[in-house]
Amino acid sequence: MNFIDIIEKKKENKALTEEEIKFFIENYVKGEIPDYQVSALLMAIYFNKLNLDETYYLTKYMIESGDTVDLTDVHGVKVDKHSTGGVGDTVTLVLGPLMASVGLVFAKMSGRGLGHTGGTLDKLEAIPGFNIYLNEEEFKNNLEKSNIAVIGQTDDIVPADKLLYALRDATDTVDNVSLISSSILSKKIALGTDALVLDIKVGSGAFMKDKESAIELSKLMVELGKKFNRNTKAIITNMSEPLGDAVGNSIEVIEAIKTLRGEGSKNLREISIKIGSSLMNMAGLTDSEEEAKKIIIEKIESGEALEKFKEMVELQGGDSTYIDDISKFKLSSIEESVIAEESGYVKEIEALEIGIVSRDLGAGRLKKGDDLDLGAGIYLYKKVGDYVKKGDKLATIYTEKADEVERAVERIKKAYKYSDEKEEYKLIIEEID
Ligand code: URA
Ligand code: CA
Repeated sequence: MNFIDIIEKKKENKALTEEEIKFFIENYVKGEIPDYQVSALLMAIYFNKLNLDETYYLTKYMIESGDTVDLTDVHGVKVDKHSTGGVGDTVTLVLGPLMASVGLVFAKMSGRGLGHTGGTLDKLEAIPGFNIYLNEEEFKNNLEKSNIAVIGQTDDIVPADKLLYALRDATDTVDNVSLISSSILSKKIALGTDALVLDIKVGSGAFMKDKESAIELSKLMVELGKKFNRNTKAIITNMSEPLGDAVGNSIEVIEAIKTLRGEGSKNLREISIKIGSSLMNMAGLTDSEEEAKKIIIEKIESGEALEKFKEMVELQGGDSTYIDDISKFKLSSIEESVIAEESGYVKEIEALEIGIVSRDLGAGRLKKGDDLDLGAGIYLYKKVGDYVKKGDKLATIYTEKADEVERAVERIKKAYKYSDEKEEYKLIIEEID
């Protein structure tokens, strides 16, 4: 087999066979096909697309390019969730303890933040001592003991994705539904969980800019998940504003803890309960999502979910006194208010823009490996649907970078869009299973 024939076939819009896709992935990972040839194939895929079978084989051989984690010897139903690039999205830190407290096993490998999106690993490292580098045995032991562990994905899981994602990024071929689906699902399926909920964001700050493309991506991922015998469901959610009220690292951990106490952000609570009740139902713990929802709310009110969060922190070496006393988290020393210059109902807060501002304040990375200021970030006092009067406080920023303050304040003001009347806001747009 010759790689140039594979490029030619896709260029002519013909479907690739299982053998051709296997050849591509195996030899690319071995370093036997140069990036320039794979770039050409990616562009041909971008224009001519992959069908469901091709996408399935691509995902399959991406998984087989590395290690998989077998969780069958961990007792209980293992659940996982993935969200596509959120801003102010700390659902994992709320959902995980909730799932552990209802008796499901929350097994999660997370990533770091890049660009305008935050990463769960960075947020967890805001808790002093928290160790995200567990080996497979430690990961499973913690799951067995406390039903929850959140760790960093090792380099041995889907190495093909590391190579392909970097190349897609450099060749502007990220936004293809087959390439996105195979990239995300290969990593999820390599970890042997039983049920998976995908939170697909739609809006200006998301990969999917409109509802139709979000539905297309969701349907493909759910179908693919089923082909791998994984119980998969997608929920399309609104990213017309950052999800929670906090954007950053320490500041989002504080918000997650508050949400587990029954305070915190309304949206974060709603999505966490929604995904949680879906997972409980998929796992067969309940007969309806309504029933599941009641149980989850009880776990918040009784404090059991927060206890689970503490248990995870302790088992992973973190200082759990921070969970009891959130004033121990130190935010960055420069604090500046953002004051509204207009009046009206908030109809949108550009999530992409807020994510970029947060990054520039020190909370995010321009490139892999950049250092973070875990105390930097933004707290939004006004969210979509709220009435704002000129002179009201919209937000507070936290940073150590004095020279970023003025620009950040201006950009946040501009990220707020207003209307004269209050418009209906739907956080959960559609469910696909
Ligand atoms: N996240 C991923 O991991 N891969 C994609 O292709 C897009 C988002
Ligand atoms: Ca991701």
